[in-house]
Amino acid sequence: MSFGRAGKNDYLCTLIQKSLNMSLSREISHAAQLIREGKVVAFPTETVYGLGANALNAMAVARIFELKERPSFDPLIVHIADRTELNRLTTSNDPRIDLLAEAFWPGPLTIILPKSDLIPDIVTSGLETVGIRMPANEIARALISEAGCPIAAPSANKFGQLSPTLAQHVAKQLPDVDFILDGGQADVGIESTIISLNVKGFEILRHGVITREELEKIIPFHALPDAEKMNIVSPGMLKSHYSPEKPLYILEKETAVPADRQRVGILSFKGEDTDGYAHVEVLSHTGDLKTCAVNLFAAIHRLEEADIDCIVAQAVPETGVGLAVMDKLRKAAYRYL
Ligand code: TXA
Ligand code: MG
Repeated sequence: MSFGRAGKNDYLCTLIQKSLNMSLSREISHAAQLIREGKVVAFPTETVYGLGANALNAMAVARIFELKERPSFDPLIVHIADRTELNRLTTSNDPRIDLLAEAFWPGPLTIILPKSDLIPDIVTSGLETVGIRMPANEIARALISEAGCPIAAPSANKFGQLSPTLAQHVAKQLPDVDFILDGGQADVGIESTIISLNVKGFEILRHGVITREELEKIIPFHALPDAEKMNIVSPGMLKSHYSPEKPLYILEKETAVPADRQRVGILSFKGEDTDGYAHVEVLSHTGDLKTCAVNLFAAIHRLEEADIDCIVAQAVPETGVGLAVMDKLRKAAYRYL
């Protein structure tokens, strides 16, 4: 058989692609098998990597808490690949769920709903509600489908530490996990928006890339104050979270920039005012807030590994996705205030 130059390359590319797909599908099958056996598997989602176990197996879920050193009062999100799963996981038939699912699933939106008895209490930390989401990442959905059960998964990091957007981040923090399914870089980069529904509309319990404005287009009658003011129990709202091991300080308008920058790294919004810092990470050269969200955790991971003593972060505008980015930065900085 003979090939033209381009044809031969195309053929080789297809072969390489096929063998990569084959090995990925074998890895997904292996991971699904482990989930069925009650093991814990880290897997990619479009937001961050998750640390997953069969959501209907209390012992398997207990191992997530153990590996992550997560306090048992902090409930897990249940991931599904098929909307019909809602029928057995929640007791609600609120028509707004369908509207939201139609608009945002698969995707980075978690909806808190009344739970059915099928879900063990350990998943929800004893709450009567459960957070459910259908991830957009195809590897994640293939894993859930093949495992044949909903997968409970927090972000695959030690409790309170930085969230992982690469398989390597998981390996560093959780070397004892049974298997890591490597799906490359998470494309959204920050965790899902979490909302709960109530009589008047919805409340945002955690900001993410799906914004209030986008949600209001689907559920317009939103009239309640933010959850923060209502003292709702959602540990995603803890003041300190996503903490890097090195001190992180936010440079807001009134903050003086450090004069001696030799041992300081900067997390820069657009790459401006970065002269003299020992390590520079730019979130988005064009100032695009979604790009900032995608790059946020990976950039902080690199700063953590750089030879510096502390990190300063430039504030980003608090509009749209910028709200979620600043929320993460404030939580990362809180420990060091
Ligand atoms: O994007 C994401 O949501 C990622 C990926 C892996 O799906 N998951 C994630 O999980 O961020 P985790 O456990 O790191 O954060 C879930 C947050 C927690 O802060 C938890 O308190 C809150 O969701 N949560 C879960 N179930 C809840 C419930 N029933 N009521 C209120 N908050 C809940
Ligand atoms: Mg987390």
